[in-house]
Amino acid sequence: AGDVVRRDRFSGGPARGFLSSLAADERIFAADLAVDRAHVVMLDEQGILEPADAAAILDALDDIEDAGHGALSDGEDVHAAIETAVIERIGERGGRMHTARSRNDEVAACIRYRLREDALDAIEATLEARRMLVDVAADHTETVMPGFTHLQPAQPTTVAHYLCSYASALARDTERLFDAYDRINRSPLGAAAFAGTPFDIDRERTAALLGFEGLVENSMDAASARDFLVETTAAVAALSTTLSGLAEDLVVYSKAGYVELDDAYASTSSIMPQKKNPDTMELVRGTAGDAAAGLGGLLSILKGLPRAYNRDLQRAHTHAFEAIDAVTEATSVAAGAVATAEWRTDALAAAAGEGFSTATGVADLLAASGVPFRTAHEVVASAAERAGETVTYADLDSAAEAVLGDGLAAYADRDAVADALDPVESVRSRDSVGGPAPETIEGSLSTLRGG
Ligand code: ARG
Repeated sequence: AGDVVRRDRFSGGPARGFLSSLAADERIFAADLAVDRAHVVMLDEQGILEPADAAAILDALDDIEDAGHGALSDGEDVHAAIETAVIERIGERGGRMHTARSRNDEVAACIRYRLREDALDAIEATLEARRMLVDVAADHTETVMPGFTHLQPAQPTTVAHYLCSYASALARDTERLFDAYDRINRSPLGAAAFAGTPFDIDRERTAALLGFEGLVENSMDAASARDFLVETTAAVAALSTTLSGLAEDLVVYSKAGYVELDDAYASTSSIMPQKKNPDTMELVRGTAGDAAAGLGGLLSILKGLPRAYNRDLQRAHTHAFEAIDAVTEATSVAAGAVATAEWRTDALAAAAGEGFSTATGVADLLAASGVPFRTAHEVVASAAERAGETVTYADLDSAAEAVLGDGLAAYADRDAVADALDPVESVRSRDSVGGPAPETIEGSLSTLRGG
């Protein structure tokens, strides 16, 4: 009878649409049915509901599920609408479904139940992306490319080393999502409005029926807490930030002619017939902005909310759902683009030594022969300053003479200098842990495959 009164008191008016989350709640329709079923089964087992009433409610829920979310007609949210639909089917006793609970613990359970699934999808996408990056990397352990800092040529590296850098970052993104998952996956159900209930409910039972690992125990916390949304959205925003860097690189590398995206990941221009644009990567890059905005929106809604439930919360989880959808899709698109792209090995090899990118290796060589690194740096810098783009043995020799008082031969033999100046040899020499040397990256690849 209470529900009838509630519906009569708040049956219409100009704010009805404003109050309603029914349309957005389509996302938690299936979750709400699961939560309703678990609650009713528990009430039955505890002797709080008559078995016949419980059975009738469960039948009605099956029927409502068959009809689908679109068939719901009344209520300011999916919880009220499903209850109304139950009562329509089996009469007033349908109102017993809401014994010992509130929409506050109900909606919190629904959000967690649904987000758990979405988090698993996001995790799967990151694992798949990592696998794809590592597969491409395995084909390119010897493909030398320019490495940049400040977008300036810095040191030669390999495509494998570059791709593994993102595979490693994605591994941490996966860990963050798993971490968030553990705290999403706890049951608030049974908190009721926030203050618990006098009924002899079994919270562990509903948690188990819904597959939750334990409870959000304090009932006020359980109804109020949305930090699991913050963590998940933050994890997703971090993931999208990783992806945005990869996407930006692919935009830049496409422009430089280092890589060509497959047509399936490119777009053209409606006016310029010759254009092949990396639009998918630009959208991946843009998604990071949406995710950051979602996290900001969520935190802004949650900041300073008083205990316990406040209707602001209705606008919180939508940020998390939107962010996780966009970023999961972006993850798959970015991975697909990498998996199908063609690395232009000749252009990469030609560019690898540009801008005297082997300068550090020459300084390393002098330092290895006993010259303090800072002094070695000065020798190579002064050679670069005088010679410009292409630094020869002779340039280095006269710089050594000027700075150290001895020619280059006093510190390194000609072959060693030639190797240091060669991008391929330069990469091969950098075999410190995590470095780009081909045999070193093989080790990284197997770690990334196993992890
Ligand atoms: N639609 C609401 C939400 O998403 C459900 C809870 C409503 N509770 C209340 N006390 N008005 O938060």
